[in-house]
Amino acid sequence: MATKLAALVVLAAFLAGPAACKGAIMCFNGWLRLPTYNQSFGFRPKKTKSVRNSSIPFGPGLGHGYYDNRWSRLYCPRAEGIVRGAVRDAVAAYPGIGAGLIRLFFHDCFVRGCDASVLLTTTNSNNSDTEREGLPNKNSLRRFEVIDAAKAAIEAACPGKVSYANIVAFAARDASYFLSNRRINIRMPGGCYDGRESFANKTDQLPGPFSNVTELQASFVAKGLTSDEMVTLSGAHTIGRARCMFFSSRFSEMDPTFAAKLRTSATATTTPM
Ligand code: HEM
Ligand SMILES: *[C@@H]1O[C@H](CO)[C@@H](O)[C@H](O)[C@H]1NC(C)=O
Ligand SMILES: *[C@@H]1O[C@H](CO)[C@@H](O)[C@H](O)[C@H]1NC(C)=O
Ligand SMILES: *[C@@H]1O[C@H](CO)[C@@H](O)[C@H](O)[C@H]1NC(C)=O
Ligand SMILES: *[C@@H]1O[C@H](CO)[C@@H](O)[C@H](O)[C@H]1NC(C)=O
Ligand SMILES: *[C@@H]1O[C@H](CO)[C@@H](O)[C@H](O)[C@H]1NC(C)=O
Repeated sequence: MATKLAALVVLAAFLAGPAACKGAIMCFNGWLRLPTYNQSFGFRPKKTKSVRNSSIPFGPGLGHGYYDNRWSRLYCPRAEGIVRGAVRDAVAAYPGIGAGLIRLFFHDCFVRGCDASVLLTTTNSNNSDTEREGLPNKNSLRRFEVIDAAKAAIEAACPGKVSYANIVAFAARDASYFLSNRRINIRMPGGCYDGRESFANKTDQLPGPFSNVTELQASFVAKGLTSDEMVTLSGAHTIGRARCMFFSSRFSEMDPTFAAKLRTSATATTTPM
């Protein structure tokens, strides 16, 4: 249950991601604050059974069914279905993969906008010290292979049309879809272009595991997100894994039963499984 709710909470607020992207330019600082937080949409564990067709506000240049327009040079009606298939296969093998995909979207959007710059290993200016190499991402961010699989299948179907940026966004949406047992199906706008630059030293904009509340709030405010939204988005942490070293110092502050459970399940590995 926690998993499902988390997926809902995450994507509900998260869709803001590509929303602020400007049409013809690459998606820059892609966060758009929802005008009001509608309590009818989101964390309603007992009453709300499913959210099948949610519409999220989005910025100019973006749209739903972005690849479905027959007269567009980007016509690729199978694009979203192919991503969904790739995520379905991945999550069927191991549901935890969904968490990695959701975090990938967050880390992409938070640094230079939702432009897939988090995927790059080398850039337009031959810079190989990219976001992937940044402290929060290196040996931590994962599930790139799912994006690669989706991209390969899409290129086979309609070469040169679908951006990685949109694939990352669709994949996060689809992770939420499958983790919620197909209850949460958000209408994710497309239209983000791929960035050509990526800098490891920009990943310090991401909140850190030892940031205090003031610092956490500041990092979200810098992206136009409120503390309320920060807390909502943090619901993503009810799924996925984290390395023990990031929370072991806080065992004493936790609910004792929960802390005991974490202690026994925590392993000595340095990378999350
Ligand atoms: C509020 C500030 C946040 C901090 C300080 C933070 C920090 C972290 C850390 C330290 C990890 C573990 C990484 C590792 O052990 O390698 C993690 C994992 C994760 N985070 Fe966050 N995070 C934040 C917000 C978010 C947001 C907004 C989302 C998505 C909406 C998110 C989604 C995830 C997910 C899904 C995982 C598990 C990933 C996996 O299993 O591969 N986090 N986070
Ligand atoms: C919130 O969402 C519900 C269900 O979609 C809708 O009926 C209601 O009018 C919305 N409220 C506001 C203030 O937008
Ligand atoms: C979903 O909502 C949009 C906008 O409100 C509407 O145009 C569309 O027909 C709806 N789709 C379904 C399957 O209900
Ligand atoms: C990057 O490397 C390529 C291939 O070596 C070269 O053609 C290009 O001019 C380089 N770009 C810059 C900005 O240095
Ligand atoms: C960040 O990295 C880029 C390329 O690696 C470099 O050009 C730039 O000067 C760096 N910025 C800072 C503030 O260190
Ligand atoms: C948070 O950390 C900053 C330094 O990074 C410090 O100035 C501030 O006092 C801290 N705030 C709290 C509430 O501990």
